[in-house]
Amino acid sequence: MFKIAVLAGDGIGREIVPEAVATLKLIAEKYDCAFEFTEALISEDAYEKYGHPLPPQTLEICKQADAVLLGAVGSPKMDLLPPELRPERAALLPLRKELGLFANLRPVIVYDELVAASTLKPEVVRGVDILTFRELTGGLYFGPKKRTTLADGTEEAVDTLVYNTKEIERIVRLAFEAARSRRKKLTSVDKANVLESSRLWRETVLKIAPEHPDVELNHMYVDNCAMQLVRWPGQFDVIVTENMFGDILTDQASMLSGSLGMLASASIGGKVALYEPAHGSAPDIAGQDLANPLATILSAALMLRYSFKLEEAAAAVEKAVRQVLADGYRTADIMAEGCKKVGTKEMGELVRNRI
Ligand code: IPM
Ligand code: MG
Repeated sequence: MFKIAVLAGDGIGREIVPEAVATLKLIAEKYDCAFEFTEALISEDAYEKYGHPLPPQTLEICKQADAVLLGAVGSPKMDLLPPELRPERAALLPLRKELGLFANLRPVIVYDELVAASTLKPEVVRGVDILTFRELTGGLYFGPKKRTTLADGTEEAVDTLVYNTKEIERIVRLAFEAARSRRKKLTSVDKANVLESSRLWRETVLKIAPEHPDVELNHMYVDNCAMQLVRWPGQFDVIVTENMFGDILTDQASMLSGSLGMLASASIGGKVALYEPAHGSAPDIAGQDLANPLATILSAALMLRYSFKLEEAAAAVEKAVRQVLADGYRTADIMAEGCKKVGTKEMGELVRNRI
């Protein structure tokens, strides 16, 4: 029996998470395993009930679980709160930190069926299969921050980018190991021509490289990487990078596969892993049965694979998603000519019908 904490969160999180939960329930029936789901409040609902977007009860439920399924946080109402109560800073980041989730895996896979959904040319995106390791508990997101008013009244703000060798080593090792089981290419992305933290990053990567002689390693500056991702994404296998570079590059890379609505993610490193789509809460389309549930369903597949070692079940979910796309069903974000447009719920059902 695996225990899953379910945190739907805000906006479309409330629509896409139930689709992933229903998919997991079906998997339990078909693959002879059992899941126990415990719902917990995060962000707006939590703030309204307990006065904080990440109440201790929620954190405890997550810590007691075997894995966490998260929808998305962020809402117009929460945007009005002071920064220290905003869900991004007061719920999502502390949750990642508390669970020790230092590695965020974001697979960017361009399904043949979705080649036309990308804004890039088919010959550029066809066959792309990139796995990004984004460092998740360090860097600018967590370094000391400060606001000061200078003597002449000018406002000044400071964010600090801190990394130590231990933090770099552990994620780089994971990335090397992943590359080993794939096409054996690792690209480490930094800005070592300018940043001291990046120079340490690169030195540390070079120090670890001899442990993995079978993996071809290259280093790339982040600006060049942003360019190469749209010029020739097929050159990448595994990418490893620090927190903020990873945040930006993975949003960009998601468009290779047609939509941010396709980008799943797994955050690992601690006892309990967390699975969430890489996209946000999309308040503009929330509650209208418009959101694409596939990134969340694919995140559930990653949970089956990484947390529960149920590879066959994980592959079955991924295959069902492919099949739905091959059968011509699309949510609005990946809609193409000649396809059939469906809503969130129907998309979830179509996937489950194929498992
Ligand atoms: C992501 C999101 C978050 C991040 C936001 C919501 C704080 O953009 O998971 O990529 O920047 O990490
Ligand atoms: Mg992001």
